[in-house]
Amino acid sequence: MKNIFIKEILKDGQIGQEVKVRGWVRTKRVSKAFAFININDGTTIHNIQAVVDFESIPEEQLKDVNTGACVCISGILVASEGSGQAVEVKAQAVEVYGKADPEKYPLQPKRHSLEFLREIAHLRPRTQTFSAILRIRHALAFAIHKYFNDRGFYYLHTPIITGSDAEGAGEMFRVTTLDMNHPPKNEDGSINYKEDFFGKETNLTVSGQLEGELGAMALSKVYTFGPTFRAENSNTSRHLAEFWMIEPEVAFFELEDNMDLAEDFLQYLVAYAIEHCNDDLKFLDQRNAEEEKQKPQQERSELGLLERLNFVVNNSFVRLTYTDAVEILKNAKKKFQFPVDWGTDLQSEHERYLVEKHFRKPVILTNYPTEIKAFYMKQDEDGKTVRAMDVLFPGIGEIIGGSQREDDYDKLKQRAHAVGIEEESIWWYLETRKFGACPHAGFGLGFERLVLFVTGMSNIRDVIPFPRTPKSAEF
Ligand code: 4AD
Ligand code: MG
Repeated sequence: MKNIFIKEILKDGQIGQEVKVRGWVRTKRVSKAFAFININDGTTIHNIQAVVDFESIPEEQLKDVNTGACVCISGILVASEGSGQAVEVKAQAVEVYGKADPEKYPLQPKRHSLEFLREIAHLRPRTQTFSAILRIRHALAFAIHKYFNDRGFYYLHTPIITGSDAEGAGEMFRVTTLDMNHPPKNEDGSINYKEDFFGKETNLTVSGQLEGELGAMALSKVYTFGPTFRAENSNTSRHLAEFWMIEPEVAFFELEDNMDLAEDFLQYLVAYAIEHCNDDLKFLDQRNAEEEKQKPQQERSELGLLERLNFVVNNSFVRLTYTDAVEILKNAKKKFQFPVDWGTDLQSEHERYLVEKHFRKPVILTNYPTEIKAFYMKQDEDGKTVRAMDVLFPGIGEIIGGSQREDDYDKLKQRAHAVGIEEESIWWYLETRKFGACPHAGFGLGFERLVLFVTGMSNIRDVIPFPRTPKSAEF
């Protein structure tokens, strides 16, 4: 018999068909004459139930069939008399592949807290919630490639180890093979990186953008989709030290085109999830509704998860400048923890006020003050702002950050210098402004923030299989 997985059995299985069900036991319920075993193999949110008749299989044979054990149950597919499933398996033979001591197995068939599940990230994919999240994560990753491929973008692989700081924020993890206890020194006592593996200082990339731009100035439409690393000490529910970013970069695009692309892209991805992850989203929608009930009235979100997703697909995003947003925030009745003044960076509380209270729609903020944005953004004529755009989402805050890029060699060089980026580390980037420069734009979508939004989870540590955060790199 060929390998067949539970998703296929539930979808295509015929009554009377012989099947072999393999997976991990979720629950076992025993009555006088029968045992009912619920099995899941992660291919779908749905379990399949196997019914063991003690007349044909003695109860003794089920002693190791406990929650968490991996089993293979062979039998016949029959119509189910119980509610909740159309078919079940009438067991003819039970084999235990791997036992799970019921006294020690940490995942019991009850609701565990998300905090506890983070401590057992090696087992949490076996829960309904996490398997649903991981399947949705996969679907979104696939949809991202499909979106770009269908529109003629080329997937560009940008390096993970770099010698430059794309964002200029200095939040990088060093990559070195030097002996930490006895590093080679220069005469002035500083470390001699010429002796390091690459003969220079290197770090894990914070963004593939700079190399993405080189690609766009050759292939016109490119995107990257890779891991990025930030050594910022932000212990929030929105930050990871290692996260995945999608960065399209397009030649001849200006800020407006960039906004159109970002909006269309996000709507496409959310619509894709609604269409292709129906079972998992229904489950998370219910889970979300139960969580909401635990919250005080004023903190509850007005829309359910699926309603929120449909809302984003069906409503165009509001577009306004940073300057206009600051005016709105200054006139808001709400007292913010951080005061708002033109020139300061907006905090998450401000972003969420605009999206959730003021406009009640996703918002694209543009033309931020030069000083609070990265060196590569195109300067506006007023000399005060740059052609930046941040897309803000309900419950999330910033989901996308992007801009039109500075294509003037002198202006770019001057901004790099102003923020302390050494020319030697980005000479190649600057050179593209000497040889065939063109207007171009792009953005970065934080993959985990997208998955957070789509799954309705509230902590980013719960939408990546193995989160990396300050003081935490287990698994
Ligand atoms: O706004 P950011 O820093 O922009 C860039 O890196 C640009 N180079 C992108 C570009 O124009 N090509 O990051 C982009 C997005 C953010 O909007 C956010 O969604 C996500 O990446 N992000 C993080 N996600 C999880 N954890 C972190 N520490 C993140 N930092 C940024
Ligand atoms: Mg940003």
